[in-house]
Amino acid sequence: MSMSPFSLLVLLHAALTAAAPARRATNGYAPITTTCPSTQLVRQADGISSAEASYIAQRYQKASQALDSWLKSVDESFETGQGHWGDWHGQHSKRQWTEWWQQQGRAPVIALTSSGGGYRAQLTGGGVIKGFDSREAPETGVSGLYQALTYQAGLSGGSWLLSSIAGNDYPTISSIQTNLWETALQNSLLVPQILVSQQARPIYNTVQADVQAKAAAGFEPSIVDPWGRLLSYGLLYGADGGVQDTMSSIASGSNFTSYNAPYPIITALGSDLSINGVCIPQPNATQYEFHPYEFGSWDTGVDAFVLSEYLGTSFSAGKPTSNCITHYDQLGYVLGTSSNVFASACSAVPANMTAEATSLSLVENLAYLTAPGAPGIPEEALFGLFPNPFQNFPSSPHVSTQKTLELVDGGVGVAYQGNPIWPFLHRNIDVIIVNDNSADTVGNFPNGTEILHTYEAAVAAGLTTMPVIPSAETFVSKGLHQKPTFFGCNSDETATIIYIPNYNYTYPSGQPTSKIQYYKNETDGMVANGVQIANYGGKADWPLCLACGIMKKSGNTLPSGCSGCFEEYCYN
Ligand SMILES: *[C@@H]1O[C@H](CO)[C@@H](O)[C@H](O)[C@H]1NC(C)=O
Ligand SMILES: *[C@@H]1O[C@H](CO)[C@@H](O)[C@H](O)[C@H]1NC(C)=O
Ligand SMILES: *[C@@H]1O[C@H](CO)[C@@H](O)[C@H](O)[C@H]1NC(C)=O
Ligand SMILES: *[C@@H]1O[C@H](CO)[C@@H](O)[C@H](O)[C@H]1NC(C)=O
Ligand SMILES: *[C@@H]1O[C@H](CO)[C@@H](O)[C@H](O)[C@H]1NC(C)=O
Ligand SMILES: *[C@@H]1O[C@H](CO)[C@@H](O)[C@H](O)[C@H]1NC(C)=O
Repeated sequence: MSMSPFSLLVLLHAALTAAAPARRATNGYAPITTTCPSTQLVRQADGISSAEASYIAQRYQKASQALDSWLKSVDESFETGQGHWGDWHGQHSKRQWTEWWQQQGRAPVIALTSSGGGYRAQLTGGGVIKGFDSREAPETGVSGLYQALTYQAGLSGGSWLLSSIAGNDYPTISSIQTNLWETALQNSLLVPQILVSQQARPIYNTVQADVQAKAAAGFEPSIVDPWGRLLSYGLLYGADGGVQDTMSSIASGSNFTSYNAPYPIITALGSDLSINGVCIPQPNATQYEFHPYEFGSWDTGVDAFVLSEYLGTSFSAGKPTSNCITHYDQLGYVLGTSSNVFASACSAVPANMTAEATSLSLVENLAYLTAPGAPGIPEEALFGLFPNPFQNFPSSPHVSTQKTLELVDGGVGVAYQGNPIWPFLHRNIDVIIVNDNSADTVGNFPNGTEILHTYEAAVAAGLTTMPVIPSAETFVSKGLHQKPTFFGCNSDETATIIYIPNYNYTYPSGQPTSKIQYYKNETDGMVANGVQIANYGGKADWPLCLACGIMKKSGNTLPSGCSGCFEEYCYN
């Protein structure tokens, strides 16, 4: 699971110096009322949007050129580019895509998933990207693969990572590491003593004013508001912790408009609390996705998307009921929703900010920031709250009577899935690189449980593009949880999954999810270890074998070394 709210409650006690909140007028955070465009804002989920399709067509071409160069750098004899290498053929069946891949030599569409796991996942996942990124030094045999990605998804701690990249216009990991993460994680605002210190007072007051401004604009505040705001100060460069950044504004960044970057997707889960009183997400919980163009779900019962820019607007049957709302898709609120572990407590949270209080948890501080003066906040204010864009929408019977969608961390619930693979089971993706930094074992390393849960949910939902994933017992007995492994090498009907789990090559990277403060040397040690995860600790055959795994089902003649690689890395 991504993070236990109980461990936060228990571990994060602190001395408190209460001070009167400043009530200065704010700006920036509150949603904005605007005139609605006359175009369609809500649609049934019958394929990716035309906006996404046109982005992908361009991005895939660039990614394919980068893949071509990386493959050639690994082994000159990789066959690429038989005339259709970078042509994105639009939306077709998986079978059709596979035929093109095998017959016309097109490039595989590659996606990366960055799992949940708090700062452990952010830093480890960041190191993995650093290892794959050709802009970083020193180069390794796998440098250049980041440039070959068409999509990237993040969940919880992985969404912090992805937001820090996409929300800052795609800098290198080393630059955000030096200029933002090292200091922010050392002076972590999630540590209550730091949060309530005199030094952090301007941030504390700004966050409180932001939440009040949202409430004054008529939107129910949630614990996710201060949570997302506080996290953002360590993730986003923009003024006041990136207060102006939204999910939809990512699409106007210069690297996005020039197709230099993979298309970013952040996931979260729906809760059925207000539908049937079930608070903890069940194995069939609705999987939602946020991206620059749209928010929504492919799942039966919702099966619809809304333009992200107009999240917050009240809709009935797909039509706005009044003026439109923008800026509700504030990026901190989205990444806070994706990492919202607070609702798993399934009960109201007290707030106690009396001057005498000496011992307060982060949760109580967040509750106070959400509703100052109130004795606590009710259960529904523990969710990421979104005015339901799918009210009375014909394809969305599961939520059509719900006024507000109540969202939680994508990695919580009965059958928790820490890897945001779901969006890629609904798109034509050939290769999914799954960087799993989940904490399943007592040492906070993955053991295959979470990717297995995704496979089981996919089977239950009738999705066929996920390769068979074995049991956690098999992962552990064969050591698949400690080394890169390929799934689906031999099945044309599924994607190939390149599974790369967290492992302690050079640094004790099994840090608990509840660790919310890292000294600079720890941040650097975690990221450096992540680079080794991308590069399998420098193992000599890895760049070639990774390239072989990616090209396995291309129908091209592969370098002779590949057959040994398949024996070593292909599980099935
Ligand atoms: C984004 O743009 C900057 C400035 O042009 C460039 O240095 C950087 O490498 C770009 N990022 C990517 C992913 O290409
Ligand atoms: C999950 O399954 C249960 C039992 O069939 C059903 O009542 C519930 O509505 C389903 N939830 C979703 C999100 O589809
Ligand atoms: C708030 O904390 C103080 C000091 O710990 C305690 O005496 C008081 O009872 C608490 N109030 C509530 C409402 O919990
Ligand atoms: C894997 O991790 C899960 C979650 O912590 C645990 O329940 C399970 O027993 C573990 N399985 C193995 C084989 O270690
Ligand atoms: C990795 O973990 C193993 C098992 O706990 C331990 O023996 C080893 O020293 C660790 N390596 C590093 C670099 O932390
Ligand atoms: C990191 O630095 C702190 C002090 O700044 C020190 O106490 C700690 O031992 C260092 N940790 C490592 C892993 O070097």
